[in-house]
Amino acid sequence: MSLPKGYTIRRLQPSDYSKGVLKTLESLTTVGSISEPDFHKLVSHWNTVKDISGKYNIYNPLVILDESEVIVATGMIFIEEKIIHGLGLVGHIEDISVLSSQQGKKLGKFLIDELTRIGKEYGCYKIILDCDRKNVGFYEKCGYHEAGVEMQIRF
Ligand code: ACO
Repeated sequence: MSLPKGYTIRRLQPSDYSKGVLKTLESLTTVGSISEPDFHKLVSHWNTVKDISGKYNIYNPLVILDESEVIVATGMIFIEEKIIHGLGLVGHIEDISVLSSQQGKKLGKFLIDELTRIGKEYGCYKIILDCDRKNVGFYEKCGYHEAGVEMQIRF
């Protein structure tokens, strides 16, 4: 599967603030008021956090850009280093969002496929995510299946 013509995918960069990433995330949830310096600081920090071997990034945020270099989809895989399963790695897919006007073009599926490929390449023994019931069909199309029950406490 490939991206539609003119679209590209790459890692989120600290300089991406003005490229529409926050607007794209608003398709998912409330983003809040975030300044450009704070955005730059966080994404730069993500780039420095490595696993214990120093080989892999723990935070792996990706973006898809359209032909005019606007960010139209984003999401990340976070790598958790565990004791169990022989110091196993678990991938967490987080904050998947496709700009409303760009939904239905297979961008979401392309993004999940790329994040899944990263988790597999890093050696994760599983990749997990939480989603609304209404998105179960989407994740099933990406090869995921229902397992367990989500519990939460909110503050
Ligand atoms: N239910 C069932 N099937 C779906 C759904 C859905 N909600 N959404 C898409 N699909 C299907 C499509 O029909 C398509 O099927 P096909 O291959 O048979 O034609 C396939 O899944 C791939 O669809 P895409 O075009 O890649 O989907 P899209 O780019 O619109 O992305 C997404 C889907 C990410 C859910 C998008 O609609 C979105 O951003 N929604 C708002 C934010 C959101 O809910 N994000 C997920 C949060 S969960 C998390 O972050 C872990």
